[in-house]
Amino acid sequence: MESGKLTGTLAIAVFTAVLGSLQYGYSLGVINAPQKVIEKHYGRSLEVWTERAAVLSENGTDEGEFPEAGDHPSVIMYWSLSVSIFSIGGMLSSFLVGFVGDLRGRVKGMLMVNVLAVAAGLLMGLCRMWKPHFMVIAGRAVMGFYCGLTSGLVPMYIGEISPKAYRGALGTLHQLAIVTGILISQVIGLDFILGNDDMWPLLLGLSGAPAILQSLLLPLCPESPRYLYILLGKEQEARTSLLRLKGAYDPTPDLEEMKSEKEKADREPRVSILSLIRSSVYRQQLVVALMMHFSQQFSGINAIFYYSTDIFTRAGVAQPVYATIGVGVINTIFTLVSVALVDKAGRRTLTLAGLGGMCLCAVAMTVAASEFLWMSYVSMAAIFLFVSFFEIGPGPIPWFIVAELFSQGPRPAAIALAGCCNWTSNFIIGMTFPYIQEYLGCYVFALFAVLLLGFTVFIYLRVPETKGKSFEEIAGVFRKGRKKANPDDGTELQQLKTSTDA
Ligand code: GLC
Repeated sequence: MESGKLTGTLAIAVFTAVLGSLQYGYSLGVINAPQKVIEKHYGRSLEVWTERAAVLSENGTDEGEFPEAGDHPSVIMYWSLSVSIFSIGGMLSSFLVGFVGDLRGRVKGMLMVNVLAVAAGLLMGLCRMWKPHFMVIAGRAVMGFYCGLTSGLVPMYIGEISPKAYRGALGTLHQLAIVTGILISQVIGLDFILGNDDMWPLLLGLSGAPAILQSLLLPLCPESPRYLYILLGKEQEARTSLLRLKGAYDPTPDLEEMKSEKEKADREPRVSILSLIRSSVYRQQLVVALMMHFSQQFSGINAIFYYSTDIFTRAGVAQPVYATIGVGVINTIFTLVSVALVDKAGRRTLTLAGLGGMCLCAVAMTVAASEFLWMSYVSMAAIFLFVSFFEIGPGPIPWFIVAELFSQGPRPAAIALAGCCNWTSNFIIGMTFPYIQEYLGCYVFALFAVLLLGFTVFIYLRVPETKGKSFEEIAGVFRKGRKKANPDDGTELQQLKTSTDA
């Protein structure tokens, strides 16, 4: 789409879409603070210490000698499942993003999947009505499934409706909403707000609330003009949608651009996930897209988010919960910085600066952790800087750059694959970090430093700048690179088409 103004309708559409991202962030963060409280309830409902309690009270032993519920193997198992099933849900559903987005359009897709979010919220909010551990696990699984879909549908919709000049800033709002969700959940998860014995089901249940607001607002949002024109061939509806999004202007150049994309898309096969993996035509873009997501997750950011309280305790911080909230605040502030910078400085520059900075911070954390105690201040500062560098580029950019790297045909499949890669690596880090930490001790961040260095070099060598370019121009950059390597492109596209037509 050619340059345009930021209209009220565009603002409402983007705001409405990112309510889904807010929910994702909230669900990511909400499970940390109330861990002990929830474990106690699991313990009660599983009656884990009943026998032991009977023996102890017969002997007249003090209640204070009871072990924590969280020490019981069943509680540990149900708790770990409550945490990790969220990512498993996301891993599975991220494959369906293309299907859901294309089925009835982006807007109806987001509307449909809200049923899942509300159901998940109810399961968790009403978990006291039956066995809380089963209800929470079911709720987290459904919520993960919802978030896997929303984390693909939102960037896809925003990427398609944003004017080129603001595509980066508006795309970054997805991440801004995620980090705001994380921060809100950290704050209201404090024990004197909702993270206590009485209120924790409400704390978990609230994760479904933004879906209700989003469902009310979605009918006001115009469908993606690209979906209407390029996929459905509805030129008139696409024109109306463009006028609603961009105000009174001449939409002819935008429609011309879509027309040429449509012609190309009609010549291209409908790209399924499998054909995208197999095709060498899109290989370069795909490698870049997947590496961007790998670098986001294997940078180690979620090691900080999931285990910050533990990391701060080890670093000798007296009030680790507040330090964790401090991380959330810094996280939000630097995502705002990225919103301001991304369409000026560019995706490539910010990703490189971010990953390079994170690499240095990881080195500093390693040195600080292996040196004297006073270095814990260094390690605190390094953690804050690590998160800041993450948010200026490596955090937000992977989410929206995939929509930029692919033309209309392969876009949904590419977003689905990249999303799955993100969720899977997030799951791997979440599950393995405590073991790696145990094994490597204070050198755990040295591992991330090495990975970060590798990602920085890769981005430097392979990722082109997409700022200010139309989707066609971006595809052209890769076509040029490919033509040099493989002058036989056309034949492969034709083969792909024949095989899908058959
Ligand atoms: C990104 C990541 C997510 C992480 C968050 C932290 O959205 O995808 O895993 O928790 O940033 O801000």
